[in-house]
Amino acid sequence: MSNQIKEKAIEEITQADDLKKLEEIYRTYIGRKGKITEILRSLKDLSEKERKEKGKIANQIKQEISEMIKEKEHKLLAKKDKNEKDWIDVTAPGIKVPQGHLHPITLVQRQIEDIFQSMGFSILDGPEVETSYYNFDALNVPKDHPARDMHDTFWLKDLDLLLRTHTSPMQARYMEKNNPPLRIIIPGRCFRHEATDSTHDFQFYQVEGLMVGKNVSVANLKAIIEEFFKEFFSSSDIKIRLRPSYFPFVEPGFEVDIKRKGGDWIEVMGAGMVHPNVFKEVGYVDEWQGFAFGVGIDRLAMIKYQVDDIRLLYSSDLRFLKQF
Ligand code: DAH
Repeated sequence: MSNQIKEKAIEEITQADDLKKLEEIYRTYIGRKGKITEILRSLKDLSEKERKEKGKIANQIKQEISEMIKEKEHKLLAKKDKNEKDWIDVTAPGIKVPQGHLHPITLVQRQIEDIFQSMGFSILDGPEVETSYYNFDALNVPKDHPARDMHDTFWLKDLDLLLRTHTSPMQARYMEKNNPPLRIIIPGRCFRHEATDSTHDFQFYQVEGLMVGKNVSVANLKAIIEEFFKEFFSSSDIKIRLRPSYFPFVEPGFEVDIKRKGGDWIEVMGAGMVHPNVFKEVGYVDEWQGFAFGVGIDRLAMIKYQVDDIRLLYSSDLRFLKQF
């Protein structure tokens, strides 16, 4: 009788595939009202001899069943654990891969390029290491001329090479090889050997612009610059003014100021009509005229994003960069 019970219990335990079923089996056989428990309880009505015999068997079976249940419980628990780990909630939001973005100077440079491209200008690159010829001489800044003092230059050792102090040398390089009419801009990095402060760094970005044609005048310069700033600040409420200034490669030369809605006049770029000596140097004849300008990309970025220290743009400080 108890052996039959034992076999049945073993079979059920083997088949049990979850903890709830296992608990039921426990209750059925060795719980307070379980079959084996009943048998053990009924022993008291038997003779001493029978009680000893049957009691021994029943106790053994109880022990076996309880051990088997325990073992099975371990297995089921381990399986449950594993299942829970493998379980994937396909609706849960994923872990975001950190994503970078463009540097504010790059953002501004690309915007400047887009605007000038839409006005028919081509975009060119120039060398950061330049000869003194293109950086100065070809731009009407002869040796020993005081205008060279305006540009504190990083000279390369023992060579007639330097780190360009402005993007203007590309004017000469381009005109030497290409015939007018032309419209070009040259964005790029420049270097000056000067102390840094909140508005100066030893490196900075400029965009040089050059337009040459038969009838290109200051009026064209003003119109194009004004259109550029309206686009750049997405506002039609922008005034510009030209103040006389001096740059060796232009005549007349100007300082360009802009005034945004509710703001003050701020100086943003140098410009002027290309100097006859520059045209002569690249082999252009008298019938051509044109304008040139040079604008600081960092300066425009600082105005646009209200950054008050240029050094932040070169600091790689993520607390700053993450704002863009
Ligand atoms: N190259 C000048 C500078 O870096 C900026 C400049 C002024 C460029 C007047 C021009 C210009 O083309 O016409 O200071």
